[in-house]
Amino acid sequence: MSVSIDSMPGEKPHVVIKEGAISHIKEYLANTHGAERILLCHSKTLFLKNEYARSFLSDINSLLTCETYMVTGEPSPFMVENAASIIKKTGCQAVVGIGGGSVMDLAKAASAAFFMEHPVKEYLEGIGSLKPDGRRLPLVLVPSTAGTGSEATHNAVLSEPGEYGYKKSLRHPDYAADLAVIDPLLFISVPRHTAFFSGMDAISQLVEAYLSTASDSVSEEYSVRGLELAGQAFEHIITGTSNISIWTKMAEAAYYSGLALSRAGLGLVHGLAGPVGARLPIPHGEACARLIMPVLYRTIKKSEKNKDFIILDKLKKITSLLSCGYRSSPDELIKILDAFFDKAQVTFSPIRIKTDDIDYILNIYSHKNHPCTFTSQEVREILKEGLC
Ligand SMILES: [Fe+2]
Repeated sequence: MSVSIDSMPGEKPHVVIKEGAISHIKEYLANTHGAERILLCHSKTLFLKNEYARSFLSDINSLLTCETYMVTGEPSPFMVENAASIIKKTGCQAVVGIGGGSVMDLAKAASAAFFMEHPVKEYLEGIGSLKPDGRRLPLVLVPSTAGTGSEATHNAVLSEPGEYGYKKSLRHPDYAADLAVIDPLLFISVPRHTAFFSGMDAISQLVEAYLSTASDSVSEEYSVRGLELAGQAFEHIITGTSNISIWTKMAEAAYYSGLALSRAGLGLVHGLAGPVGARLPIPHGEACARLIMPVLYRTIKKSEKNKDFIILDKLKKITSLLSCGYRSSPDELIKILDAFFDKAQVTFSPIRIKTDDIDYILNIYSHKNHPCTFTSQEVREILKEGLC
């Protein structure tokens, strides 16, 4: 099965969605970019737990010399600089990131850091004072989870977690990968809880980009296509399936979420998920899953109170798309999301949230492009409901 996705003419990345597509990466890098030696970024567990990914490792080594960089946890500027120093020392001519959003973001940032004259942190939005110039090495991104859509975006999220932690983007339009390879055979052994949290990230991104104050007809089309596919696939994914066409739909939905957020930005769920992930040991997908219902519930109520019919119509459309046309009232959207939680039977990370944590997050969060604003007391309630 091969699927083509339309992005704007001339826009990167070029995307290939096909069973077995990862076997063509080596020829692409050798023939299109003249690469002989590459840096291959991967997660700690991918090659241990996924036999198909292991076969990719031996396959790519048959033509190219691979230096490897294992990504543990979410990428930091320090990790990016370590990866860039391997590129410099060994003379790698291209970078491949195969894994979840953390791995792809690390690969994206390392391909750019190779050209940076100053520490990566100096180029982060909201942290440093320097602007990236967009130069990077040839870059191929291969998602192994259907979630972040990082394979479609032109930013890499880097963080330093802790008491005064941050989570910020390294961004430039030219940082979008040269090639995104979506091979559904990589996805079928993903554990159910990972599939659930990754999918909730993708759904949050599609919903937030659709409702965004910066959305346009193109980003809305991306969101609609992604939500339609997620509506058809997610229920099967979270109850466990190895059906390739279902996984292909969810992978496409995640890809569309990346395209949509690159044009329209995101809303309050991600405006809070960033600081939450910086302060607390909660993975990004879980943070989105925890926050989406309290944020959307209040967004629905506020839109009804304000008689904001444009947003209410969009909420109806989201409800219809995620329920394959069976439901349409915005109030039912919360029930649909709740049913996803019930079916997935997931548990959250066992963490104790302190008042200090909530206060810290309230000091640094952003509404981003959310269609309505909330008072800090309302945001405090959202955080308590989602996190405690
Ligand atoms: Fe996200």
